[in-house]
Parts: sequence; C-alpha cells; structure tokens
Amino acid sequence: MRYKLLGRSGLRVSEICLGTMSFGTRWGFGGDMEACREVFDAFRERGGNFIDTANKYHEGESERIVGNLVSDDRDRYVIATKYSLSMASGDPNASGNGRKNLVRSVEGSLGRLGTDYIDLLYLHAWDFTTPEDEVLRGLDDLVRSGKVLYIGISDTPAWIVSRLQTTAELRGWTRFVAMQLQYSLLDRTPERELLPMCEKLGIGVTCWGSLAQGLLTGKYTRATGEVDTMRTGASDRLNDHNRAIAEAVDAVADELSTSSTHVALAWVQRRGKQLFPIVGPRKRSQMDDCLGAVGVQLTDEQAQRLEAVATVELGFPHDFLKGEFVRKVIYGDMLDRLELP
Ligand SMILES: NC(=O)c1ccc[n+]([C@@H]2O[C@H](COP(=O)([O-])OP(=O)(O)OC[C@H]3O[C@@H](n4cnc5c(N)ncnc54)[C@H](OP(=O)(O)O)[C@@H]3O)[C@@H](O)[C@H]2O)c1
Repeated sequence: MRYKLLGRSGLRVSEICLGTMSFGTRWGFGGDMEACREVFDAFRERGGNFIDTANKYHEGESERIVGNLVSDDRDRYVIATKYSLSMASGDPNASGNGRKNLVRSVEGSLGRLGTDYIDLLYLHAWDFTTPEDEVLRGLDDLVRSGKVLYIGISDTPAWIVSRLQTTAELRGWTRFVAMQLQYSLLDRTPERELLPMCEKLGIGVTCWGSLAQGLLTGKYTRATGEVDTMRTGASDRLNDHNRAIAEAVDAVADELSTSSTHVALAWVQRRGKQLFPIVGPRKRSQMDDCLGAVGVQLTDEQAQRLEAVATVELGFPHDFLKGEFVRKVIYGDMLDRLELP
C-alpha cells in the first residue's frame, strides 16, 4: 500500500479507501460484525488506514461497527464520516446542512465511533437551502474546537464547491481537502467540471461507485449462472452500453492476467494523482480482490481502448471551446506558438 497526502493537506492516507456502507445489516444488504471484522482485518493487514463511513449508513450501525473495529488503535486510522442525511423523522432540523444539524450530527457520530475527534468530516449532500457562510463557519468552528481535523464535501455541484472553497480561502476559514463523488468508467461525467475544479483548488477526490456497485468486477458479465450479490438494483444498469464497457474491462483484465476489479480500480487511479477509489466490499474475498489492485498498471493503449468504449461528452462550453475555428479566434496567429494545456 502506498500513502498520499489528501488534497492540500499534511494528512497521509492509503491510496485505497475502505467504504463501510456495507458494514451493518439494517438496510437489507451488508455484513454483520464478524463479516466486517474480516473485511477490516484484510484492509489493515495490507496497510490500509483510510476508512469512510457516514452517520446515516445503516442508521448509525456502520459507525458503531467502525468504532468497535478501530478501538484498539484508533489513532492509526483516518476516519472519515459525514453529516446532512436525516436521522430522525418528524424533525425539520434533523437533516440538511444547517448548523444545528451539523453540531448534533457530529456529537452523535463521536458517540457511535467512540472517539473524541473525527479525522475528516464531509458535508454529505448539498441541500440547496442553507446559506453558504453558515456551512463554512459551522465547519470551521468544529475544526477550531478540535472535534474535527479536516473537512470535505460530497455530492455537490461544482459551482457551489468552487464558491465555498474560494470564500473559505479569502476569509481564512478551513478549506476542503477532499470531495467525494461518483466516478468510474460507467460514470465519467465528473470529468466535465468536478475533477478539474478539485485539481485547481487543492481538493483530493474520493471516488464512490468506482466498481459501479459491482458491475465492473466481472461477476455480471462473466457469470454463467446465478450472480453472488446483495445489490438487487445493480444489474438494472447493465444495458447494452454499460455491458460493452464492463466487457472491455474484462478483456483488458484477461490480457493482464488479473481481475476485472483490478482494471476498474487501476483506471480510476491513473486518471489523476489525487483520485482515491473507495471500495465497499461486504466480505473478505471481495476485499482481497480489491486490494489486489495495488500496483496494477494499465498501458496507455489499454486505457485509451477503455475510454473509447466509455466515452463521455463534455458538452458546452468545453466542446465548443475545442473547435478549430473558435481556437483560432481566441489565440489568433499565436495558436501554433503558445504552449497550451
Ligand atoms: N458520498 C456518497 O453519496 C456515497 C454514495 C455511495 C457510497 N459511498 C461510499 O463509497 C463506498 C463504496 O460504495 P459503492 O456502493 O459505491 O461501492 P462499489 O464499490 O461500487 O460497490 C460495492 C458493492 O459491489 C460489490 N463488490 C465490491 N467489491 C467486489 C468484488 N471485489 N467482487 C465482486 N463484487 C464486489 C458488493 O456488492 P454485492 O456483493 O452485494 O454485489 C458491494 O456491496 C461506500 O461504502 C461508502 O463508503 C458514498
């Protein structure tokens, strides 16, 4: 396992992050304490230190399991959790990005995790209602109090993150070091705005869905019989386009004599130094498979072949700005002599 600094920070995290949305059973999928311990032990034995959870996962069960698993050596781990999602029905302030929910949520997470600090706290999803300065000052206060060390943001449009990060920078408030988003060969739209924004603003990217809920592991495309899965909805995404992508991943895996999982994760990692796949295995054999991706390298030709099947339109203004005539009028007769990105 290699370690990298997360975004513009001094925090050292393993190149693969362990997602724990499958830690718990209350949502109808996932594993019990024993299964989670096996997954966690495999991750720990390989040097993994970066763990992702959320207040909401299995209604708090995931955080309790994580807290239990790290209790012997808590400081060794970088524990990321999240706030925003509803934890109580009938209470308008028990969800959303507001300060009251933020403070209550963090207190709840600290209790369930059995710790007195959270390494990385994400805003889980933008609520389109809370004022931006309330969010930023609330997060900044938690960092100043010592209950939270670093902050991140998840599932939020690029223009909002961009405003928040710039405001924090100008006001001397705590800045985001990580953004969590859905990214894989099946979901490349973050390439339009979110990924370039994160690179520019010093924000590390933690990618959920990097195996597309199991669709890029080969188990759906190579299966001749029943597929071992608890993700009942995953196969709904296996349309002709997505199947072609998954089969292209399988073909590259065969060339490299490795698993499809490895190829899918290696592709995410080669897209940028600050891209961290979050894997969400529900049992030890899946964790071992995911960890086998460490060190797997795709050739440029293999990556290009995958991207040719998994194309994404960047849309306006990117496609417009790439046009030959537009470039000529923007750069004039300097076009051939300017060094352009
Ligand atoms: N910020 C957000 O909004 C957000 C959203 C979702 C997830 N997350 C985070 O990201 C993590 C990953 O979640 P995800 O659902 O997106 O994960 P994923 O890695 O795309 O899919 C996880 C599912 O894929 C299957 N799987 C995983 N590894 C496998 C392997 N090696 N071989 C075969 N099947 C395998 C398992 O399902 P089956 O065995 O049942 O098929 C597992 O439940 C979560 O744990 C959570 O921490 C964040």
